[in-house]
Amino acid sequence: MKYYVRTYGCQMNVADSDEMSRLLDARGLGPTDDPEVASIYLMNTCTVRQHAEDRAFSEVGRLKRWKAASPDRKLVITGCAAERTREFLEDRFPHVDLVVGAKSIGDFGPIVDRLLERQPTDLGLDYAAGAMGDRVSAFVTVMRGCNYSCTYCIVPYVRGRESYRPMDEILDEVGMRVEEGTRDFTLLGQTVNSYHRNGGRGRHTDFAALLEAVAGVPGVGRIRFISPHPYYMTDRVIDAMASIPAVCEGLHLPVQSGSNSVLRAMLRNYTREQYVELVARLRDAMPRLVLSTDLIVGFPGESDADFEKTLSLVEDVGFDWAFVFKYSPRQGTPAAGLPSWPDDIVEARHRECLERVERIAIGNRSRFVGTTQEVLIEDGGFGRTRGNYKVRVDGDLPAGELVDVVITNAERATLEGMMKNTSCDATTPDRSSNCPKAFG
Ligand code: 5AD
Ligand code: SF4
Repeated sequence: MKYYVRTYGCQMNVADSDEMSRLLDARGLGPTDDPEVASIYLMNTCTVRQHAEDRAFSEVGRLKRWKAASPDRKLVITGCAAERTREFLEDRFPHVDLVVGAKSIGDFGPIVDRLLERQPTDLGLDYAAGAMGDRVSAFVTVMRGCNYSCTYCIVPYVRGRESYRPMDEILDEVGMRVEEGTRDFTLLGQTVNSYHRNGGRGRHTDFAALLEAVAGVPGVGRIRFISPHPYYMTDRVIDAMASIPAVCEGLHLPVQSGSNSVLRAMLRNYTREQYVELVARLRDAMPRLVLSTDLIVGFPGESDADFEKTLSLVEDVGFDWAFVFKYSPRQGTPAAGLPSWPDDIVEARHRECLERVERIAIGNRSRFVGTTQEVLIEDGGFGRTRGNYKVRVDGDLPAGELVDVVITNAERATLEGMMKNTSCDATTPDRSSNCPKAFG
């Protein structure tokens, strides 16, 4: 029996889909890329903006035909939109078999057991569930939920309050992934750097300690994390980032706006000046830091002058890249009741902000041309730098290979480069030569 997974939204959802897939694998099901051969269609939804939710709902509607083709097929809707709109989904789409909200993903195993028990047994179980972990890069969830109340954001409502995974559980998962071939780890959480645990005998674990512990797992080559909140980017965390060789010099640090009055209305608990000062400390500690961010344009009350401040922040900080989002009112959040800007104003701001971000990004990328970057090959001719730029290399190496690459072109978001490993024996990786390297 096969299952098909469709994931909308953020990396947290991708990680949740992976976790649910593993649970299905453990029950003897096998993954497929073709919904037509699948008996279970798992759709993991996002609700952070209306657009994401609309796309998921229209897919649920279209799946009426998929479901009708065989009564044994099961349509399972999970994730954040499922949490927010359970009743609507059940009423509006009777062909949906199971709705599992984001807060219940931890119980997916027993929930799906109940669904599978209702399955006729003649579908033919496929026990050859392949190992999923043949990937060089993996996401590991370290915390869930969010204790903030940013006034635009639905996440705290659909994912609940923060909870932190025990450190030994995280380290076990990292160790398991290393055995499967993973070298590059991204620690995940809605406010990932708020991670802490109160250990026994007064021992307190914070995010810096977690970074150190993950780096200590033999075989871990690279560590990143998303998404941190500026508030928890403490000196301890900055020091850990700078001093632990495995922690990469790439940071995605959402700022949302460059205007203090908008930041205040968003309840972001920092000012533009504090953010800029934080970036200065980060760059002092890591001069080669690649910095990216999230920006929202068209927030209620965002005046032309406020918007200009976001544009000037993009210039002042010199972000290497950014996601720019049009504000989308989410029902039940404090900002949803505030007057919205007309679409054309939001559109225009979005376009202008994207242009500004792109102009700065191209300028920043050009600094890489002619430099040598350590690239981790992910997929044939593609890999990533430590700063998280995707690079197309002039050859086809096995995933997991670490090579020095001279960047030859940085006009596009995916850089181009030439490998320096021209004449060597790839079976004896050696850090001192230009051969493919091993993680030290
Ligand atoms: N409208 C637009 N963008 C939003 N984000 C979160 N909520 C909204 C919303 N209501 C953006 C923020 C956040 C990213 C994950 O999504 O920029 O950092
Ligand atoms: Fe949403 Fe703010 Fe929490 Fe991020 S910190 S998930 S933007 S409420």
